[in-house]
Amino acid sequence: MSDRYCVFGNPVGHSKSPAIHAAFAAQCRQDIRYEAILVPRDGFAESVRDFAAAGGRGANVTLPFKEEAYGLTTRLSARAELAGAVNTMVFHHADVFGDNTDGAGLLFDLGVNLSCPIAGKRVLLLGAGGAARGVVGPLLDARPANLVIANRAAARAEDLAQRFAGATSPVGCGYTDLPGMCFDVVINATSASLGGELPPLPSGIFAPGSLAYDMMYGREATPFLAFAAQQGAARLADGLGMLVEQAAEAFLVWRGIRPATAPVLAMLRVALER
Ligand code: ATR
Repeated sequence: MSDRYCVFGNPVGHSKSPAIHAAFAAQCRQDIRYEAILVPRDGFAESVRDFAAAGGRGANVTLPFKEEAYGLTTRLSARAELAGAVNTMVFHHADVFGDNTDGAGLLFDLGVNLSCPIAGKRVLLLGAGGAARGVVGPLLDARPANLVIANRAAARAEDLAQRFAGATSPVGCGYTDLPGMCFDVVINATSASLGGELPPLPSGIFAPGSLAYDMMYGREATPFLAFAAQQGAARLADGLGMLVEQAAEAFLVWRGIRPATAPVLAMLRVALER
């Protein structure tokens, strides 16, 4: 019988994870079955319990359950602990291991797919919610020249920065503090693009040669990427690469093999633009 995996979410109908993991499994000759499970808002713990009891080996977790998943684990990886959220679970008898591959996925996409290593770069991270929190640790590990976290509610950005105070301490601020600053990499981790909105960014934040990265993706450029292009950002990237790379990291956690991601990313890109 195939080993069972799933993604838990709400909504989850449009999730690309089943297609991504099916492609990985075929490529790596792994006998797995991966499905999308729609979880009622108040039914996450029960869904996890049922899936594990039925022999499920592992799961991905997407919105809005990543924080709840964190609380359900019996063991956590260091990166999940830092992120305060879990996107990858492994079930083994009574043991529920929680990991977070979002940051590693972003860093792999930036460093390998986009040839834009973070070391020495001036980095601006927009947003201070779950998506931002998941990537601060891996961004700092990659040794940027500095990391500024900007959020509408400045206090949330300051609190997030405070959590990661260390060798390269991030700075948390509001959007009104940004004029006069300029960055090599600007990453949008807000949910603004979901509503077709643009964070209130000032002009002049994109340094010559800079990369604008939106964790969201879609057929059309997001408002953030459209703004970045108009402001002279040299390169634009959406979050499709991060999606595939976080999945590859999860596959590695479960199966001990990291699949080649380029063909899968190319397949998704074609499907998105069709
Ligand atoms: P997620 O887990 O997806 O990060 P979240 O925790 O609700 O979701 O956080 C959403 C983030 O997007 C927050 O940083 C939010 O800013 P505030 O904390 O100031 O609310 C940000 N956000 C949402 N809509 C935005 C918009 N139109 N402009 C700027 N930031 C926005």
